[in-house]
Amino acid sequence: MTRLETCGSNIPCLVFLRAAAAFSPYERKGKRNERLKRGSMLIGVPKEIKDHEYRVALTPGSVGTLVRAGHKILVQSGAGEGSGFPDDEYRSSGAILFPEAADIWEGAGMVMKVKEPQPSEYIYLRNDLILFTYLHLAAEPDLTRVLLDSGTAAIGYETVQLDNGTLPLLMPMSEVAGRMSAQIVAHYLEKENGGRGKLLGGVPGVRPADVVILGGGIVGSNAAKIALGMGAHVTIIDTSSDRLRYLDEVLHGNLTTLGSNVQNIADSVNRADGLVGSVLIPGAKTPKLVSREMVAAMKPGSVIVDVAIDQGGCVETARPTKHSDPVYIVDEVIHYCVTNMPGAVPRTSTYALNNATLPYALKIAGSGLMDALKADISLVRGVNTLGGRLASRPVAEAHGLEYIPLFRR
Ligand SMILES: NC(=O)c1ccc[n+]([C@@H]2O[C@H](COP(=O)([O-])OP(=O)(O)OC[C@H]3O[C@@H](n4cnc5c(N)ncnc54)[C@H](O)[C@@H]3O)[C@@H](O)[C@H]2O)c1
Repeated sequence: MTRLETCGSNIPCLVFLRAAAAFSPYERKGKRNERLKRGSMLIGVPKEIKDHEYRVALTPGSVGTLVRAGHKILVQSGAGEGSGFPDDEYRSSGAILFPEAADIWEGAGMVMKVKEPQPSEYIYLRNDLILFTYLHLAAEPDLTRVLLDSGTAAIGYETVQLDNGTLPLLMPMSEVAGRMSAQIVAHYLEKENGGRGKLLGGVPGVRPADVVILGGGIVGSNAAKIALGMGAHVTIIDTSSDRLRYLDEVLHGNLTTLGSNVQNIADSVNRADGLVGSVLIPGAKTPKLVSREMVAAMKPGSVIVDVAIDQGGCVETARPTKHSDPVYIVDEVIHYCVTNMPGAVPRTSTYALNNATLPYALKIAGSGLMDALKADISLVRGVNTLGGRLASRPVAEAHGLEYIPLFRR
C-alpha cells in the first residue's frame, strides 16, 4: 500500500509536511488570505505568454464550477481571447478580472496555467505557491532549478498518473497533437510547402504515402487513426506487444505493426514519407531512437513530426521549434518540432484540457494540497517539486539531481 511519509526521523517527510501545511488557505498571510472561508482557495489564471500559445487554463464554464464550490478565481484580462472566451464571459461566471499578470500570480494561492512558466514569469515563483500546469521538466534544467530554489509546489499535468499507468492530464493534448500530426505530414508533403509532392492517400493506381509512427500510445494511435482515414499506409512501431495487438484489433485500414528494435526502425524510417515521433517514457527524456544517419538516408522532401520534442524528442536531428517558425530542414528532410502543437487549435484544446484538469483543481482547492495528496496517489505522482525538494525520479535522473520521494511504498 502507498502511504504518505509521516515518520519524524525522515527529513524529506518533515520538509514535505511543513511545506504542505504552508499551502493551507487559512495559514497564508496577507491578501491571499482575505475573505477566504474554510475549504476555499484563490486560484489565478494568467494569460499564456509562450509563442503563439492561445489556450487558457480555465474556461468560463470551469470558472463557474469552481466559484460555485466556494473558490475565488482571478483571471487576467484577455487570458481567454485566443480560445474565443471574452472577458465578459469570465465576469458572468464569477471571475474577478485584473489587467496585469503580477496581480494574478501575486494574488493567488494556486496558479493554473497551460504551459510551463516562461523566464519572465520566474520572478513570481515562491514557496507558498501551488503551480498546476504542464511542466516537462526533464527537458527544462533552468526551470527545474528555479522551481527548486523558489520552493514552489509544482504539479505537472503530464506526470499525474493513475494506477494503471495512464496519464489522464496528458491524454487530451496527446489526442489533439496526434490527430494534428497526420494533418501536418499531409500539409508539408505538398510540393508548395517544400515536400516531395505526395498525396497522403494516393489515388487508385498510385501508391499512398508511407507514414511511420514511432510509439503507438495516445499520440501514435490518434496519428494513425487520421492517417489511415486519409488513406495512407501506416506503420506503428512500439516496444509493447500488447499495445500492438490492441492497435491491430481496433484500427482499420492499411496498417502494419512492428516491434521496436534498431533494424525495424531503420528500415521503416528509410521507407517513410512521413515520420511521427511519439515515444514516451513518463517523466524522462525521450530516447533518441532515430539517428542522424537514419535521417540522412530518408528521401528528400520527406517530413518528420517529432511530437515527443517536449520531452527532448526521439529523433537525433530534432530541436524545439515554435508555431511562428515551425519547420527547418536537415539533409533535405523537413522537421516540424513544435513543443505546444495543441496551441494551434486552442478552442478544441482548451475544452479538452478542462475536461481533464477541472476534477483535480476541485480536489486541490477543496481540501488543500496536503489532504488532496493524501487522498489521491495519482496527484502525488504529479508533484515535481515541493518545498525545494525534487520529487520526480525521472526529472532528477535527467538533470543528475537528488530525488526525494513524497511517499513510501
Ligand atoms: N509537442 C506537443 O505539443 C505534444 C503534445 C502532446 C503530447 N506530446 C508528447 O508526445 C509524446 C507521446 O505522448 P503519449 O501521450 O502518446 O504517450 P503514451 O505513453 O501514450 O505513448 C508512448 C508510447 O511509446 C512507447 N514506447 C516507449 N519506448 C519505446 C521505444 N523504445 N520504441 C517504441 N515505442 C516506445 C510506449 O510503449 C507507448 O505506447 C510525449 O512526449 C508527450 O509529452 C507532445
